[in-house]
Amino acid sequence: MSWAGQFGDQYIERNLELTNFKYKDTDRLNVTKSFFADIPRDASILELGCNVGSIIRILDSMGFTNVTGIDVNSKAIEIISKAHPHYKFINCSIEDYIPYVRHDLVYTSGVLIHQNPTDLPAITEKMERWSKKWIFGFEYYTPKFERIDYGVPLYKGPYETLFHGKLERVEHHGGHVYYLFS
Ligand SMILES: C[S@@+](CC[C@H](N)C(=O)[O-])C[C@H]1O[C@@H](n2cnc3c(N)ncnc32)[C@H](O)[C@@H]1O
Repeated sequence: MSWAGQFGDQYIERNLELTNFKYKDTDRLNVTKSFFADIPRDASILELGCNVGSIIRILDSMGFTNVTGIDVNSKAIEIISKAHPHYKFINCSIEDYIPYVRHDLVYTSGVLIHQNPTDLPAITEKMERWSKKWIFGFEYYTPKFERIDYGVPLYKGPYETLFHGKLERVEHHGGHVYYLFS
């Protein structure tokens, strides 16, 4: 099972509901908005693993103008490209992505949790290198890293401890950690 294959395609259906905030997770919507509230609306933003855009939808509603998303799943990229034609989307893995410019803000939302822990240092190092100013994250939280049975690998953990910048803000809501580094 993989994100690029059948598991990833099936996930899109469930995530479309999440993207439309049909479920009662207004908390996630409000907390995410508050973390991006002070970011200039013309900041260049890169999401790694954007899927069909539960966060990108929020950024669009807030008036952000310069957003790029990458995802390893081609169907997700097809759907999100149509929904947000003024943004840029690339069907690519984090491992293969070569950014030609650095972005003001680089973020993940529910993506580090699906990486093999041994790959995390290389990914967070890339995020720090690709970011000019901010790193944002929304990931499942537990005080110690632990694997959950989910179909594809899923690890909860203290993801905010993996970055080296200045921790501007960290909050825990509903089993998740939100963090912003500068
Ligand atoms: C749980 S979903 C989160 C989607 C989205 N960020 C959100 O918050 O709704 C994980 C997404 O990350 C993508 N993904 C996982 N590993 C990836 C990798 N190594 N490179 C690029 N995309 C990846 C998957 O295809 C999937 O779309």
